[in-house]
Amino acid sequence: MHPKHPSESLTVLTDLVLPSETNPLNNLFGGELLARMDRAASIAARRHSRRIVVTASVNHVAFNRAIPLGSVVTVEAKVSRAFTSSMEIFIDVWIEDRESGNRTKANEAIYTFVAVDEMGHPVPVPLLEPETELEKQRYDAALRRKQLSLVLAGKMKPNDATELKALFI
Ligand SMILES: CC(C)(COP(=O)(O)OP(=O)(O)OC[C@H]1O[C@@H](n2cnc3c(N)ncnc32)[C@H](O)[C@@H]1OP(=O)(O)O)[C@@H](O)C(=O)NCCC(=O)NCCS
Repeated sequence: MHPKHPSESLTVLTDLVLPSETNPLNNLFGGELLARMDRAASIAARRHSRRIVVTASVNHVAFNRAIPLGSVVTVEAKVSRAFTSSMEIFIDVWIEDRESGNRTKANEAIYTFVAVDEMGHPVPVPLLEPETELEKQRYDAALRRKQLSLVLAGKMKPNDATELKALFI
């Protein structure tokens, strides 16, 4: 399998915030944003692997800014690193000012997807070759995040998390 670049999985979803998607403060529900991010990340993982993909983990979500009713919200997802069958997806969320058109970063998240066959068994995916400085930074830190996610899920012993231990030794 040929390695791929992050730009090949770039997925951009733009949509409005409607009244049925808001909380009593008239801001977007967190769960609605999680669903939009999951959809964008799933398409990015599918574009990278060209396989069936499933969400294995939501590693990190930061709801830094409330997103008001009527906002135009853009969710951008790209594969930040590919391992054997799993892919880390970085998601940036932007809102757009109605008058100026300027974009402000509202939130970000990191999801892990796994490519599977028709029986749901993990299958290999192409490697990722980062190109930009930001893509390289995200790629370099991804192994640490994978180990942290596996430790928290009880799938890796803390002693085996070599990348995490290296931070403290
Ligand atoms: C995700 C899933 C396929 C993993 O299956 P598994 O039997 O744990 O398979 P493995 O242990 O071989 O793990 C497969 C890969 O997932 C990674 N992985 C599994 N759990 C993970 C987690 N919590 N965080 C990060 N990576 C994880 C493993 O590290 C491995 O990566 P690699 O092949 O790139 O090294 C399986 O747990 C599953 O089908 N879960 C349900 C998915 C789903 O329905 N999602 C929608 C939720 S509603």
